[in-house]
Amino acid sequence: MQDIDWKNLPFGYFKTDYNVRCYYRNGKWGKLEISSSELITMHMAATALHYGQEAFEGLKAFRGKDGKIRLFRWEENAKRLQRSADGIMMAPVPVELFKEAVFEAIKLNAKYVPPHGLGAALYIRPLLIGTGAEVGVKPADEYLFMVFVGPVGPYFKEGFKPVEMQLVSDYHRAAPYGTGSIKVGGNYAASLKALHRGKEEGFASVIFLNPANENYIDEAGPANFFGIKGKTYVTPDSHSILPSITNMSLRQLAADIGLTVEKRPVAVEELETFDEVGACGTAAVISPIKRIVDRRTGKSYEYCKEGVAGPISTELYHMLREIQEGEREDVYGWNTIVE
Ligand SMILES: Cc1ncc(COP(=O)(O)O)c(C=O)c1O
Repeated sequence: MQDIDWKNLPFGYFKTDYNVRCYYRNGKWGKLEISSSELITMHMAATALHYGQEAFEGLKAFRGKDGKIRLFRWEENAKRLQRSADGIMMAPVPVELFKEAVFEAIKLNAKYVPPHGLGAALYIRPLLIGTGAEVGVKPADEYLFMVFVGPVGPYFKEGFKPVEMQLVSDYHRAAPYGTGSIKVGGNYAASLKALHRGKEEGFASVIFLNPANENYIDEAGPANFFGIKGKTYVTPDSHSILPSITNMSLRQLAADIGLTVEKRPVAVEELETFDEVGACGTAAVISPIKRIVDRRTGKSYEYCKEGVAGPISTELYHMLREIQEGEREDVYGWNTIVE
């Protein structure tokens, strides 16, 4: 195994030793197979390639101080993959198969789980694709479910340092009543141009508006948006955003420290009124936001006046990280030890 510079890992693909695969054929899932190949062979008419029958998940496992590997809330990812499969008519992956595949992929690559305390983790990427050949627009009759893993550092290079984001309205990542609330590749394809332009214009990410009327905040790139106003945690409610498992966890922790939690449409004008804002997701947990620039109007909203994240975002960030890394009591049973 190559020497790994655990402290400077990017958030990117990293080759490990094994991945696991399972095929759905003749109406049923087969046996889990272990592979050391990074390649998959599929039919050129596979529906994943033509009609976007593709869904994925992203979750993390952490090495605790005790040396044990903890996997965070995998059942929620299993359920979300089932919702994604249902949304684009793919064969759903049974929760037990999801569990077996994810745990097997971690155990086979256990040496790639980064050491405790460096902010790095093992990222797990389950993937479900339509492999059956079709030319007409219809769901495939064959699927491949696979899981690969790799060590990653923090998603945003800046770590837990406030970033700038750009509010965009000339691109939407998902249509109203489209596929925004499930984790399918098409949403990410639709977000690429806006994200790329935002980065070129100097922003860490972009914030998309509600595609139906462009009055409300939707998704913060590949993360959910939240704002803190006094003692209230506010996060958007919308048909077109992905229900983030990190956000779900932060809402619980916010309630635990005495905040009122509101999940409701968040109007753009409301950005003026927040004390703290951030983006949340598996990759970064929380990315505090110091400035949001509305690309339509040039108007900018400033936060983090002292240059550091606000106190509530900081507290929530540390609480969640400590639970994930086994340093704080896991009262809700969010972690599963991978033996
Ligand atoms: C579009 C989008 N929103 C939100 C999230 C955050 O979700 P989670 O906290 O489950 O990682 C992700 C990442 O998975 C995402 O891709």
